[in-house]
Amino acid sequence: MSKLAVKTALLATIVAGGAAMFEPEAQAAEPTATDEADPMTFARGAKTWSETCARCHNMRDPKELRDDQWRAAVAHMRVRAGLTGQETRDVLKFLQESN
Ligand code: HEC
Repeated sequence: MSKLAVKTALLATIVAGGAAMFEPEAQAAEPTATDEADPMTFARGAKTWSETCARCHNMRDPKELRDDQWRAAVAHMRVRAGLTGQETRDVLKFLQESN
């Protein structure tokens, strides 16, 4: 095997191993979902954002605001959109990681 082939095989093993590890973790995190490290927070936030944040006005680009500004805006929009605490945390995380 060439050096490159060894590296490629190693990388494939790491990627496959990582994906296998991710699955059960994501399912286990679903019911409580309050953990900061919850891997599904970002995905749920993106979904909530796309479903609720364009109901009343144009979709706001996550890049429009800084992290601290998003914190204030989301706290404000939480009331308007009627989000749960979990949905609010999810959306905030999504916006802050996408700006
Ligand atoms: C029920 C209607 C409604 C929903 C749902 C809604 N907004 Fe808004 N949003 C408004 C209105 C009305 C304004 C302008 C007046 C104001 O600021 O309250 C606004 C203003 C904003 C602003 C301008 C800055 C600010 O704080 O005023 C941002 C950013 C924003 N919305 C983001 C969002 C995001 C992100 C979501 C999803 C979590 C969301 N909005 C959901 C009605 C809504």
